[in-house]
Amino acid sequence: MSAPLLRTRGLTVDYRVGRGRLRAVDHVDLDLHQGETLAVIGESGSGKSTIASALLRLVPVAAGSVEFDGLDWASLRGAALRRERHRMQFVPQDAGSSLDPRWRVRESVAEPLAVAGTSARQARDRAAAMLDRVGLEGPLQERFPHQLSGGQRQRVAIARALISKPRLVICDEAVSALDVSLQAEIVNLLVELRAERDLTYVFITHDIALLPYVADRVAVLYLGQVVESGPARDVLVDPQHPYTQGLLSSLPGAHPGGGAERPVRGEIPDPANPPTGCRFHPRCPVAVDGCPQVEPAVVPVSPAHSAACHLLEPRSATADPAVPLPSSLLRKARS
Ligand SMILES: Nc1ncnc2c1ncn2[C@@H]1O[C@H](COP(=O)(O)OP(=O)(O)OP(=O)(O)O)[C@@H](O)[C@H]1O
Ligand SMILES: [Mg+2]
Repeated sequence: MSAPLLRTRGLTVDYRVGRGRLRAVDHVDLDLHQGETLAVIGESGSGKSTIASALLRLVPVAAGSVEFDGLDWASLRGAALRRERHRMQFVPQDAGSSLDPRWRVRESVAEPLAVAGTSARQARDRAAAMLDRVGLEGPLQERFPHQLSGGQRQRVAIARALISKPRLVICDEAVSALDVSLQAEIVNLLVELRAERDLTYVFITHDIALLPYVADRVAVLYLGQVVESGPARDVLVDPQHPYTQGLLSSLPGAHPGGGAERPVRGEIPDPANPPTGCRFHPRCPVAVDGCPQVEPAVVPVSPAHSAACHLLEPRSATADPAVPLPSSLLRKARS
């Protein structure tokens, strides 16, 4: 297989909070191939948007590497970064807040081109064509953001992201604020545009019901760490991590792990003070001795599917011999 379009290794982001530090993203490895959509899921506060901000180079990368489109992306600085930024674009949850309220939406869509030196007339024509393509035609293009509906504003945000011909588009809860029928329209539009323009997406969502429609791969984030990742079908049909099983149990008709619905209980802990060992252990329905002490390794379940849970580790790979072993417990975990 060709090299991934995006590859992160050990991607780590820290925020300063008061006198301390909060590690919002902790050694995240992601691989994303051209033309694929990687969905990043996890509860609020798990670090999804921080990954987006780090990829978009809006927050500093504390450690790790990001290779993107053949570039050592995390190392780009200054003029070099400005020159290459167009390769990765962003669609936010609330386009209303990212569009200039004083500009007609066609001007907002044309702006990145004008900044890049395209003539005003060409920028205007291309913005008009782009807006046509996302379903905002004629007089709607002359409106101000507040004169459009939420769904129409998301279309503008998509047009603005795509106008500079990016390779990768990061959608952060891009349809979450819309009602269900509009969500489907915008998701369908994104899927069409992906094929049409050879795009690759990182699709951040807390709405797992969307996954079957958009995702080729899924990465499940818990307190800044990827606890499971793999092809969407594998993760959705046969989730391995108790956290993923809990998240997916709210999918209509799904009872991952074969048992009854078992939603994740409790609240996500404070990332400034994460639990020891396996970070999920205080909430885990199948935690065993050793989980609070030993951080689980990422274990391959199949060539492309992996998860970090002691119940998946072969005995030899378990750091602490006191951690009891899987097969029987694994059955318990899945019953
Ligand atoms: N600018 C910041 N300064 C300090 N802490 C931050 C900052 N931005 C985010 N955080 C913290 O980092 C952690 C991860 O936040 P992030 O916004 O990435 O989560 P998320 O998964 O996108 O959540 P949501 O689903 O609510 O959007 C949270 O604990 C959050 O409070
Ligand atoms: Mg977020």
